[in-house]
Amino acid sequence: MRKNIVAGNWKMNKDLNEGIALAKEVNALAAQAVPKCEIVLGTPFIHLAEVSKTVDDSKITVAAQNCADKVSGAYTGEVSAAMIKSTGAEYVILGHSERRAYYGETNAILKEKVNIALANGLKPIFCIGEVLAEREADKHFDVVKSQIEEGVFHLSPTEFGKIVLAYEPVWAIGTGKTATSAQAQEMHAFIRGIIVKKYGAQLADDTTILYGGSCNPTNAKELFANPDVDGGLIGGASLKAGDFMAIINAF
Ligand code: 13P
Repeated sequence: MRKNIVAGNWKMNKDLNEGIALAKEVNALAAQAVPKCEIVLGTPFIHLAEVSKTVDDSKITVAAQNCADKVSGAYTGEVSAAMIKSTGAEYVILGHSERRAYYGETNAILKEKVNIALANGLKPIFCIGEVLAEREADKHFDVVKSQIEEGVFHLSPTEFGKIVLAYEPVWAIGTGKTATSAQAQEMHAFIRGIIVKKYGAQLADDTTILYGGSCNPTNAKELFANPDVDGGLIGGASLKAGDFMAIINAF
């Protein structure tokens, strides 16, 4: 059975105290509600251990936003998948367009990160999505297909079953410009279709595909109502507990 997920991506926001306060607020709101989806908080590395201890893990799980492409050793400043796992985190966001654009993360590097994350018991939330010029040139399907093929299609069916995909059109991230509900559904159905061809209908049907890009309390309901949109990866609106909870309650 496919899981619905609403995941916050805090990006590089909130110092430790602010982050713990936000996690406590989300936790308190979630305790009063009966969320119809799994809630994930994607925090900076330094928050992971404390936030993991703060939240009720029957409702809320924790994600890192990146991990190293090496297992361990002399890689100053890097954080390994094993270290992330030891904080209590369950997920790691990989391949976010900001990592691809600003930190040179290629599909080849991401493939390594996916392998290492899985080997350490972390579930990747693997992001894909086209930039505006690619959509305008009608290349968005090709771009997303190759990101998926090169990033995660080397996995065995059992491994692939642990992956969550997040379609984030880059032109919609932080811009206030959301993909229309129809554009999101069209791409999500396309993605599920290529998973059917690679892994078969059952695994494709079980795969959670999130939408990300200016998802907010106003548009979440319409986006999540699509048959192939299984939740959201939320940036800006995840920084306010009330807005994040309103998105969760859109299910
Ligand atoms: P916004 O919700 O701020 O557009 O960010 C989306 C995103 O990048 C989530 O990973």
